[in-house]
Amino acid sequence: MQTKKIFLSESEIPRQWYNVAADMPTPMEPPLHPGTGQPAGPEDFAPIFPMPLLEQEMSQDRFIDIPEAVLEKYLIWRPTPLYRAYDLEKHLDTPAKIYFKNEGVSPAGSHKPNTALAQAYYNKISGTKRLTTETGAGQWGSALSMCCKLFDLECKVYMVKVSYNQKPYRRMMMQTWGAECVPSPSSETAAGRKILEQNPDSPGSLGIAISEAVEAAVQDETTKYSLGSVLNHVLLHQTINGLECQKQLAQTGDYPDVVIGCAGGGSNFAGLAFPFVRDKINGKDIDVIAVEPTSCPTMTRGPFAYDFGDTVQMTPLIAMNTLGHSFVPEPIHAGGLRYHGISPLVSQLLLDNLIRAEAIPQLETFEAGVKFARTEGFISAPETDHAVAVAIREAVKAKEEGKEKVILFNWSGHGLVDMAAYEAYFAGRLQDHALHEDEIQRALADIAPLPKPKQYTGA
Ligand SMILES: Cc1ncc(COP(=O)(O)O)c(C=O)c1O
Repeated sequence: MQTKKIFLSESEIPRQWYNVAADMPTPMEPPLHPGTGQPAGPEDFAPIFPMPLLEQEMSQDRFIDIPEAVLEKYLIWRPTPLYRAYDLEKHLDTPAKIYFKNEGVSPAGSHKPNTALAQAYYNKISGTKRLTTETGAGQWGSALSMCCKLFDLECKVYMVKVSYNQKPYRRMMMQTWGAECVPSPSSETAAGRKILEQNPDSPGSLGIAISEAVEAAVQDETTKYSLGSVLNHVLLHQTINGLECQKQLAQTGDYPDVVIGCAGGGSNFAGLAFPFVRDKINGKDIDVIAVEPTSCPTMTRGPFAYDFGDTVQMTPLIAMNTLGHSFVPEPIHAGGLRYHGISPLVSQLLLDNLIRAEAIPQLETFEAGVKFARTEGFISAPETDHAVAVAIREAVKAKEEGKEKVILFNWSGHGLVDMAAYEAYFAGRLQDHALHEDEIQRALADIAPLPKPKQYTGA
């Protein structure tokens, strides 16, 4: 009988996270203070993040120890299994071997608790009583709600309105874990009220929800803000997944030719890919692909520029690929991929050609998700379907080229709370959104006056 799942025992769980910043050929451009335009230091972020996370954000150490208390709770769902997708391979009649890392086995159903747990822990030991955050599809909000409860913190979640309405069960998960969840834009914050004045029917966006959550955090000393993606420390925490995966693949004797992850802010992609990027920097030949929706093409059509992380311009300026902080993507079902920017680490690796990006239209992602469910059984989150779609494209390409490639992708989450999206797909109500260049240029005009990074790629 063939081996379908590759496990690690609990004692084999990685005890350190991997920090790709230590190995990158080009140093990162620093975040800038929005008022002075000067590099922002830890003190500029101190009102919203606790010091241990800020130290990780700026760290150049290659490996960072995972605290014992975090490891103990990681064991609730980690190590996660690596699967070989035999039935998908057979269905595609491909010579490629397809592996996927199943991050959907966490209690919240995705990779998000890998960092939520670490962030809740570092906040707890720093004296924080309450965390605020934004959420798109609800995966991040539910992950943080659970992890706050595990470390006895209060949690308040601003959920992008379109997803709040599309995904009531995510809201109820947050409630079950003891958190409070409100639709964003809300009338509770000045940022939310400003957006509602401009557009009372705003569907919301991650950028707007971040503004609200940051505003709520700075108003109270014992409240801090927590971000589910984009920042260096978030991506760092996710690398436990790629490090596990390297140990699991070593058991099979295979090594990936292609590594794939979907990318909203970049965290699940980075979590799986960065340990392999390290190998690539050290000479391995690997194609590392970050996948985004064509309706929010941050990496494939957005320039590398300084921009705000949020819509209402409260955060420091960060150097990243961006569509402009005022860009509001179409309300596609992959809510977690509707972000105007992408992690600075991912952006820098794109500039250095160590990774590349592909954009996929919505209908192809659902077609891929259905194919995956009908062969491998698992129903993917709409975000995850983007990675599935590129894994299928690569497997088909391997067949055309007659190459026995090893394809690895991150199965970032299950879609069992996203069935309304599948219902809309089956009913023919979903469409592909062609994003006109004018629309991008309109949003980018807002960042034209901002400082430019050395490697600026705009017009
Ligand atoms: C299942 C799933 N995958 C991927 C993402 C994208 O986020 P990131 O790029 O930070 O992994 C999300 C975000 O909500 C998600 O819920």
